[in-house]
Amino acid sequence: MSIIPYIQYIKYYNNKNYFYDLNHKIAFKEFRIFVSIKCYMMKKILTLLTAFALFTACGNSEQNADDNTTAAAEIPSTEEYDPNRGLGPHTDYVYADQPDATLVAEGEKIAGSKCKSCHKITEERLVGPGWKGVTQRRTGSWLMNFITNPDPMIDKDPELQAQLELCLVRMPNQNVAEAQAKAIVEYMRNNDLTQ
Ligand code: HEC
Repeated sequence: MSIIPYIQYIKYYNNKNYFYDLNHKIAFKEFRIFVSIKCYMMKKILTLLTAFALFTACGNSEQNADDNTTAAAEIPSTEEYDPNRGLGPHTDYVYADQPDATLVAEGEKIAGSKCKSCHKITEERLVGPGWKGVTQRRTGSWLMNFITNPDPMIDKDPELQAQLELCLVRMPNQNVAEAQAKAIVEYMRNNDLTQ
């Protein structure tokens, strides 16, 4: 590229470019040829480089787009969100027709220590939504999955997202064991059946 500073001006004459190099007047003719060849090559190289850069840039973005679409297409097929059961191991939890009184009492106790600072059993919202009717809105599997591990579901469930926007608080994981969750769910169920 050191030839660039030598070119003082270029004249277009006789259908040709003439390179005038004021510092090397003597070598003008040879220099002109030299410069022409250099310029021609540089142009070629530049064109090739630009084409290559454009090609790789386009190629990459196309490839990225492909990756994204395949990734996006793969995620729902493997862990598609089912609003009827949420995310977690429970798929077929069925509410008892007649909730077990011991379980209900146990559930009430656990809810008292872990949940009722934020939830009322009426329709009224405290920090989180009131529990009245929750076993009609939600399936047993959804409740079991949510109560034992709320985080991934808050990220996915559209209704939880809406509640989060309303409550402005994200329900924390209360470290509820499976047996405790079952007791709470039966307590909620009993609440919906009796009131
Ligand atoms: C710090 C407050 C807080 C505590 C404690 C809490 N929650 Fe929540 N809960 C929320 C909020 C807020 C929501 C709404 C969703 C969100 O924003 O994450 C919610 C949503 C829910 C829902 C969904 C209600 C619906 O109408 O769909 C259930 C069920 C629930 N909580 C059960 C429980 C249980 C069971 C416990 C106790 C083990 C508990 N929560 C403890 C704040 C709390």
